[in-house]
Amino acid sequence: MGNSIGIVILAAGKGTRMKTDTPKALAICAGKPLLDFVVQAAVKFAKNSSLTSEVGVVVGHKKELLESWLQANKDQTRIKTAWQKEQNGTADALKACFNDLPHFWDYDYTLVACADTPLITEFEFNELFKVMQENPTLVGVAATFETANPTGYGRIIQGVKGFKIVEEKDCDEGQKKIKEVNSAFYILKTSHVKEVLGKISNKNKSGEFYLTDLFQEEFSVKSVKFVSETPFLGINTLEQLAQVDKLIRTKKIQKLMVDGVRFLNPEQVYIEYDVEIGVASTIYPGCTFLGKTKIGNSVLVESNCFIKDSIISSDAEILAGSYLDEAIVLESATIGPMARLRPGTEIGPDAKIGNFVEVKKSKLARGAKVSHLSYIGDAEIGEDTNIGCGFITCNYDGANKHKTKIGSNTFIGSDCQVIAPIEIGNDAFVAAGSTITKSIPDGGFGIGRSQQVTKEGAAKKFLKTKKS
Ligand code: UD1
Ligand code: MG
Repeated sequence: MGNSIGIVILAAGKGTRMKTDTPKALAICAGKPLLDFVVQAAVKFAKNSSLTSEVGVVVGHKKELLESWLQANKDQTRIKTAWQKEQNGTADALKACFNDLPHFWDYDYTLVACADTPLITEFEFNELFKVMQENPTLVGVAATFETANPTGYGRIIQGVKGFKIVEEKDCDEGQKKIKEVNSAFYILKTSHVKEVLGKISNKNKSGEFYLTDLFQEEFSVKSVKFVSETPFLGINTLEQLAQVDKLIRTKKIQKLMVDGVRFLNPEQVYIEYDVEIGVASTIYPGCTFLGKTKIGNSVLVESNCFIKDSIISSDAEILAGSYLDEAIVLESATIGPMARLRPGTEIGPDAKIGNFVEVKKSKLARGAKVSHLSYIGDAEIGEDTNIGCGFITCNYDGANKHKTKIGSNTFIGSDCQVIAPIEIGNDAFVAAGSTITKSIPDGGFGIGRSQQVTKEGAAKKFLKTKKS
């Protein structure tokens, strides 16, 4: 018995029924392209089996997009692609793989997977392979399932020896009623593929070369019926994409709850597949977690926070209505309510960003505080420095951005602006209401406001009286 397997993922289709021009394999589901889910499942299966394996992806429609996506993903740079020039059907796609990657003929088995089935896991691949191993005379197995609504799927027609698959378009009325359908996941002996693939014709209603023709009643092939149809739900329309997207996110939240994350109202949280949340964290309703966001243990995220590609360390608190994009928040820091952290921001341990504070590309050290109504851009703020209400780093001169550096243990009074580039040292003090244009050394006091004039009894000149 052989011990090598070529895994071929078919991703050349345009996805006509999606009505969009992006290749279907790159349609985003719970934050990731469809292709990514299938590749991950295939890679896991290959890693955990004792088989020598390789993954190849057949690309076609807008192939540059798929190729650059594969290249951009470190885990997947070893994956080779084959080019199906015209999308003439799934059998033609597999042919393209063997044309461009002829060493795939040398693998004992060929596993074929479709890119449009993101709920698939290594479990289904394992089960399929087990059946193949247990029955050495088989030349192929196909994963099937029973469904109440078989519309759109190929129907399984059982024969005396093997079985055949008839696509919906080619089914007669009787065949249409069959509830056992093809999932489009197969494991075949490569020798069988070599014998049959070239002989498949396109004489059917679609005029396409169907890979399903590798299975015939007279072949030694077996359908492996799975209990649940969920792992095989294929995405052909935007409606199906929305349904599967929801299923993936629901499953994700269920898993997080099992792992110890408290959701006050799980139905009202939107979370993408790759997001991580640590134990004993509490998530209030209305939050959105996107991309590569990683949240540590015992973090509190209050209602209506939007957190994208950010890292939040343990014991931090993100209070209601805050917006974080590519930001880092370290242990026990507090953000918000209603704060905005923009890309390149790092908020140190125990630091505090209060309401209506915007921070961009800035680093605040441990214990620094900006509690109210401020803009911090292109700045570095040292440990335990306290910034009063209404502070602005004037970082932009209309053409270029400039840096502000403020040391540790410094106090900035309310309603100050600093005109960057500028440096304010450690243990310094800036008087409230100042516009600071020159740097202040360590221990220095800065005041930059016009002198007050008080005229006794002069108020009545300015107080308006109502005309009757
Ligand atoms: C396919 C099966 C059907 C099965 C269903 C399960 C065939 C002929 N039919 O139908 O029996 O019930 O999946 O979801 O295989 N692709 C290419 N090149 C092409 C055409 C398609 O690479 O020329 C790729 C697509 O990108 C996709 C996969 O093959 O990832 C399946 O194609 P799709 O058009 O979705 O087939 P279905 O109609 O769903
Ligand atoms: Mg499909």
